[in-house]
Order: sequence, then structure tokens, then C-alpha cells
Amino acid sequence: MSSDVLSIIQPDDWHLHFRDGNALATTVPHTAKAFARAIVMPNLKPPVTTVAEAIAYRNRILAAVPSGNNFQPLMTLYFTDQLTTAEIELASNNDFVQAVKYYPAGATTNSENGVTDIETTYPVIERMEELGLPLLIHGESTDSKVDIFDREKVFIDSTLAPLLARFPTLRVVLEHITTSNAVQFVEQQAANVAATITPHHLMYNRNDLLVGGVRPHFYCLPILKRNTHQHALLEAATGGNPKFFLGTDSAPHGKADKENSCGCAGIYSAPGALEMYTEIFDECGALDKLEGFASFFGADFYQLPRNQSRISLTRRKWEMAESFELNKDVVVPMRAKETINWHIVDATDEK
Ligand code: NCD
Ligand code: ZN
Repeated sequence: MSSDVLSIIQPDDWHLHFRDGNALATTVPHTAKAFARAIVMPNLKPPVTTVAEAIAYRNRILAAVPSGNNFQPLMTLYFTDQLTTAEIELASNNDFVQAVKYYPAGATTNSENGVTDIETTYPVIERMEELGLPLLIHGESTDSKVDIFDREKVFIDSTLAPLLARFPTLRVVLEHITTSNAVQFVEQQAANVAATITPHHLMYNRNDLLVGGVRPHFYCLPILKRNTHQHALLEAATGGNPKFFLGTDSAPHGKADKENSCGCAGIYSAPGALEMYTEIFDECGALDKLEGFASFFGADFYQLPRNQSRISLTRRKWEMAESFELNKDVVVPMRAKETINWHIVDATDEK
């Protein structure tokens, strides 16, 4: 393999927001271009709370997959205070639903229906542990007294550690981790606890968000942290530990909602996510670790077969678009109008 071309088993995105309706025409092709499967977040308005709703949403996503592309959405249920053990059993028996997503109420975009007190849901979590259905966690405290930069660490100490002490074999993915505390915590747990890492938390820190002016397109939750945490994430992602795998948390919002006096949280990375991860691993001198992180460890954790198809990337510069249509607005992607050094091999490379 030349160092200018990288061929890997096709990756999957283990944390993704597609949205719904007209947005799918933009978001689904962007992900399906690079990824074979994606764990699709259920934080629609209203949220996806039942297996029946998840299957209907899956069908809407499939209708937006370009013809000839074999992309498969993997569905999740949104954990509310009303979630029942009966629905957990249905989910566990359903091939299309892979997990349940836990948002502390009020933690992030469309999380107002999230869990208000996790201890009251313990009977449901107990059934998930028994059935081996993964719990995907947005790990941030929602205590108004907790500083936004400390919310992940406080959540781990006050909620996640007690949860795992009570349910030691519960399969948990701590989503989009942002701190060295989260890296260490996950490393110390047994194999049933893993974490996803986004391209933006690998590429940026809070200076990118705040120095020289506030940059709304860098605002996401959990918020970007200081550079020491960024470095801990880079080491975790490129270190070959199967507990850490790819999850973009690509989360499109209209430009008007981002460039706003109360701009909303979410970074749209899908149009170049795989290329950006490749760039990051390349800069770390760890291209040989990309395939495990992107294509093997997530599938292994979810007990799904690894993909058979392959994808190639080449060291070819290209410019990310300024924006893409999204409903009646546009969405500004991560790295808009910037040069990206790796490109997915396509017909133009084969001449
Ligand atoms: C996500 C969104 O917009 O749905 N936003 C974000 O900043 N990551 C929600 C989430 O995953 O927290
Ligand atoms: Zn998310």
C-alpha cells in the first residue's frame, strides 16, 4: 500500500443525527457516500420512543438512500420517563433497533423529553442489562450549578459510576467523549463499556470556539474542552484500544439557527467525516490504526458482523462546500470552504 492511498474495510458511523422530512435528502446521501451503517439518533420532534416509530423512521431514511447504495440505518429508541420493560423486550427482539439513547432532560438539542431522574428508570435499565440491549449515554450533568466545562466529569462521577456499580454488565456507550476523565473512566471499565469520539473533538479545542470572536459553527454539546483534553482524545482514538470507536455526532442545524444570539448546538460533519478522520490519523502518524477505530471496533461492540465492502482514500486536496440545502435554509458544514487533504477514491482517480 502506498502512503498516498489507503484501503480499508468500509466504516460505520456509531452516532449520527439525520433529522427527518426534507432534511433526509441532504443528510442521508452525505453519510451513505462513506459509511455502510450508522446508529441513528432518535431526538426528533417528537422523539422516536417506540419500535413502531423507529421502523417507520427507518423506512423514511431508506427512501432517501441513493439508488445502488447499500447503506443500512441502525435505529435507536429515545429513553423517556415513560419507557417500559415491554418496549425494551420488543426492541431486543427487533433486528432494526440496536440500542436505547439516554439524554438527561434538558442536556442538549431536543432533550426536553429526556430522563428526569435516572434512578426511577432502574427497572427498565435492569431489563436492558438482562437482554444485553446497549444504553447509549449523553454524559453531561444538567445541574445548573455545574460549570458547562465540568459537566461530563460530574456526570461520570455522580451518575455513570453509580449506574455501572449497580448494573456491572450493562452494555454502555458513553457518546462523544470530550475529556481525559472520560477516556480514563472508559479505559478502567470492563469490555461492556465503550465510547465514541467525534472528528470535531479530535480536531478542535475551546480556543477554536472562542479566540478572536465567538464562532457558532464550533458550538456543540458536549462543548469543546481545553487542548489537554483534545490530546487525550487523540491518544485514545489512535491508540488501538477497541473501547474507542468512530461516532461523528454529525448534527445539522439551519444556518439561521446557528448564527443567532442564542445559537443551537451541533456540528455538521457528515459531508467530509471519513476524510477528516483520515486526515487526523495521518497527522498523528497513525493511519494504520484508522481501520480498527472506523471499521471494526464499533461492529464488534454492537455484536454485528464487520462489513465486507472496502473503501479507498487518496491523498488528494479538495475544498468543502460553503453550505448545503437544509429544509428552507442551508447548513454550514464542518470545514466549510477549507481544504481537506484526503478524498474518497472515485471515478476521477481511476483515469
Ligand atoms: C445534537 C443535536 O443537534 O441533535 N447536538 C450536539 O451538539 N451534539 C444533540 C447531541 O448529540 O447532543
Ligand atoms: Zn448526538
